[in-house]
Amino acid sequence: MKYRRFGKTNFNASEVSLGTWQLGSKWGDPFSEDDAQKTLEAAWDNGVNFFDTADVYQDGESQRALAKFIKGKGDKVFVSTKVGRRLDPHVAEGYNEKNLTKFVEDCLTNLDVDALDNVLLHCPPTPVFYEPEVFFTMDKLKKEGKIKNYGVSVEKVEEAMKALDYDISSVEIIYNMFRLRPADNFFRMAKEHDVGIIARVPLASGLLSGKYTMNTTFGKNDHRMTNRHGEEFDAGETFSGVDYATGVKAAQELDAKLGAGDKLAQMALRYILMSDAVSTVIPGASKPEQIEKNVAAADLPAFTHEQMGIVRDIYDKYMKNPVQYKW
Ligand SMILES: NC(=O)c1ccc[n+]([C@@H]2O[C@H](COP(=O)([O-])OP(=O)(O)OC[C@H]3O[C@@H](n4cnc5c(N)ncnc54)[C@H](OP(=O)(O)O)[C@@H]3O)[C@@H](O)[C@H]2O)c1
Repeated sequence: MKYRRFGKTNFNASEVSLGTWQLGSKWGDPFSEDDAQKTLEAAWDNGVNFFDTADVYQDGESQRALAKFIKGKGDKVFVSTKVGRRLDPHVAEGYNEKNLTKFVEDCLTNLDVDALDNVLLHCPPTPVFYEPEVFFTMDKLKKEGKIKNYGVSVEKVEEAMKALDYDISSVEIIYNMFRLRPADNFFRMAKEHDVGIIARVPLASGLLSGKYTMNTTFGKNDHRMTNRHGEEFDAGETFSGVDYATGVKAAQELDAKLGAGDKLAQMALRYILMSDAVSTVIPGASKPEQIEKNVAAADLPAFTHEQMGIVRDIYDKYMKNPVQYKW
């Protein structure tokens, strides 16, 4: 495993880390504490020291499993959590001092720590980015010692750019072979601000493993069945906003042109690491075996100029219209 500076946080994060939205199961299946601990341990044993979570993941179980797992590891491990999605309805006005303070205090309890390493606003509605009081509240929570760093998780590139006006340490954003726009301008801006970048949904919810076909089935409560058109939350979070059939076709073409064999998932992660603005990439895993494969991505050779061109050509051919203009 290699490690990269995580913006101005003073932490060196594993290049390949772990997303814990689906920790302890497959999406929509019951949570298993045993699976969760095995997954976290598999990541740790392979050099992962950075974990992405949220208060809403597995209804708090993701954070509680992490609390158990990080005991005794001190500052060798870094947990980045998100808040805001417990708001119902999820509206900009909900991002007020009273709610944010309560969310942060609940995370402290769930993670069983005195101070949170990093707190991201969890894809708040766009108007929040133009409400300085929200960010001043985060500054206050930092001064009070409840949080060490804060930042934003965003849906749109423009939200990420706007967030750079505030004293944020990091931005979490979708960046993968099917979602290239963040690299156009935002990455340069983030570097100038010394803001760390967490690349999420790096496998386009698994599409970029190349293993799915038109006959693949997903669980009935899996968002890859229930949110294909944004029925539950932003459509961009599921398959990266790409229509399933288009995604399968584009992944197959990538696989063939890159000669990836059974390594497309790893190559997809390695591609993300080609950008030095990215601090860490956070694939989720539905089983511990996927982690070993994912961490090995950091050791793959760099993409050649020709391979970089293949990715860009496939993006332009399949993704530009459905994805580029929306996010
Ligand atoms: N709003 C937000 O801030 C937000 C939104 C989304 C995600 N996130 C964070 O980002 C993390 C990553 O995103 P994600 O989990 O949605 O998508 P992802 O990382 O693109 O895809 C994860 C899925 O890909 C499959 N997979 C993983 N490794 C594999 C391998 N080596 N070979 C084959 N298949 C593999 C697994 O699905 P199967 O086993 O079912 O095939 C897994 O559940 C999340 O866990 C979460 O922490 C944040």
